[in-house]
Amino acid sequence: MRQPCVGVFDSGVGGLSVLRSLRSQLAQAPLLYVADSAHAPYGERSDAYVLDRSMRIMEHLMSQGAIGLVIACNTATAVAVKALRARWPEFPIIGVEPGIKPAVAASRNGRVGVMATPKTIASEKFRSLMKAQSAGAQIIAQPCPGLARLIEEGDLTSAQMRQAVAQHTAPLRQAGVDTVVLGCTHYPFVRHLIEEAMGPDVQIIDTADAVARHAGNTLLGLLPREAQPSAVLQTTGDVQRLEAIASAWLTFPCTVEPTGNAAA
Ligand code: SIN
Repeated sequence: MRQPCVGVFDSGVGGLSVLRSLRSQLAQAPLLYVADSAHAPYGERSDAYVLDRSMRIMEHLMSQGAIGLVIACNTATAVAVKALRARWPEFPIIGVEPGIKPAVAASRNGRVGVMATPKTIASEKFRSLMKAQSAGAQIIAQPCPGLARLIEEGDLTSAQMRQAVAQHTAPLRQAGVDTVVLGCTHYPFVRHLIEEAMGPDVQIIDTADAVARHAGNTLLGLLPREAQPSAVLQTTGDVQRLEAIASAWLTFPCTVEPTGNAAA
């Protein structure tokens, strides 16, 4: 068992965008991140599959000393957060969801685009969020099949990546949105391409900092005073690949290792 830590997981590497914000907000916390890259992307899997993976990883994180969980994956939150909270009602679980509310507040013309995986957009949770938070604004939900997979592969500037971003942003440009929500934690890593495709007048909303603040308020008090800051990244996939991506994307030291059989 490790020292008590904050558990974080994603279908793969996208949740590192949330981990960056968590590191700033929870400077003293031991962080344990699981990238389920052997099973990514979740956005194109069945609900049962995503739920099963989420349960296994949560059990793994708890066995490693997690005192609370941040699901750094919109798809896993949309599909599994309710069931995870029902199974472990005493355990703090923080999910991520597309920032429709801040986007509607920031929009000047009342037209907001949401980029997310097909599974997030098809989910009941997303439908309720749109209903509760659109406040009369027009929300254009844009499923982006394949985009998380390309980001998972790690080449953020390839011609194929540019083409995929151009294709998924085209309907949003046509609809004249002035605000775009990044509704998948992988997408902040191609934010520069989305900004380029949408143009300078379009605002981009990413909720990683808000999620990290919420996690700080909820979880910091549960860690022992003597907790030492650390970041361990585990993967069900290729360790070298995660190492390469983490060293390119993260600015703080971390240890990278396999999850081992427990969460494979
Ligand atoms: C995916 O695995 O398809 C993307 C994860 C997300 O929705 O954040």
